[in-house]
Amino acid sequence: MSGRIISADNHYAELDNYIKESGCQSVMLVCDESLRFLDIRHYFDTLTDRLHVALTRFSDFKPNPLYESVEKGVGLFRRNRCDSIIAVGGGSAMDVAKCIKLYSNMDSGENYLKQAIVPNDVPLLAVPTTAGTGSEATRFAVIYYNGEKQSVADESCIPSVVLMDPSVLKTLPGYQKKSTMLDALCHAIESFWSVNSTEESRAYSGQAIGMIIKNKDAYFANEESGNREMLKAANIAGKAINITQTTAGHAMCYKLTSLFGIAHGHAAALCVSKLFPFMIRHTEKCIDSRGEAFLKSIFDEIADAMGCENAEQAVCRFDEILSALELRVPEAAEKDFEILKNSVNPTRLKNNPVGLDIDDIDLLYHQILSERK
Ligand SMILES: [Fe+2]
Repeated sequence: MSGRIISADNHYAELDNYIKESGCQSVMLVCDESLRFLDIRHYFDTLTDRLHVALTRFSDFKPNPLYESVEKGVGLFRRNRCDSIIAVGGGSAMDVAKCIKLYSNMDSGENYLKQAIVPNDVPLLAVPTTAGTGSEATRFAVIYYNGEKQSVADESCIPSVVLMDPSVLKTLPGYQKKSTMLDALCHAIESFWSVNSTEESRAYSGQAIGMIIKNKDAYFANEESGNREMLKAANIAGKAINITQTTAGHAMCYKLTSLFGIAHGHAAALCVSKLFPFMIRHTEKCIDSRGEAFLKSIFDEIADAMGCENAEQAVCRFDEILSALELRVPEAAEKDFEILKNSVNPTRLKNNPVGLDIDDIDLLYHQILSERK
């Protein structure tokens, strides 16, 4: 169940239609600070005058949003009698908007995280402002409660409509543009080899990989066609991880971000660049119930999607893509490796088709953080 895609053409005519057709009278706009750099801000500035729809803005949250922020958003949603939500932003704005939707019909006297989710029909429209997270296509949201990461998951929070507006990528800083594209590429690759993969998810993965590779140059040149196609590719990669979730690359990347302050997609790509060749060399440690031969065939399919003849070439291709972006490799001290190897979420490792023990993870982190040539 994924969202209908609408375009930004003709001054957001399809968005106008969506708002009119949904019959909503009071929209909550969940947006991060990037909105002030985007063309679409003018649309919201004039919305009330043009369509006579009340607008409540909510941006009182930070990256890695807190439960308390979501709680505030739910309170505002109720006080202002909002009847629909539009989320404009990257992963955090999507996470907050999804949680506000899910919690909007729950008992405010009790912790929302402890209550059962009862799906509601509050319309949620997403406008992704990066071509990366694919969050607009997934049932997952992450928020933090008392310093602990909480994963919220429910099909009903997948936005029913996604507005793809390539103009949002025009002003995205270069480092974010690089790292979000790498995030989408890692989603597609990890989903492809996940033990949870299905024919449908692999079709999404293959399509996303092909689109990312084909359009990356136009995307970095800030051409509208490149930006448009990259938004679509990230969305399709999001559909793939909505089915499979991510694997060891993502399980290993989170601590690199918190320890060294590098962006999520950058960290994920550093991990995948070493994980990929390790897995090809160790298919005998396959834990996918479909077997080692199946896993090898998946690596061949990934290679094919990347325009390569075999998996080894695909690893080189991935490294070329990463090296061309000239991203730094963080400098790690010996004590960091102790922290890193104990940081990995074992649930995500279960999605990985090659079993990894603590020594493998330690070895991989040493490879990931060694100086690149
Ligand atoms: Fe990611």
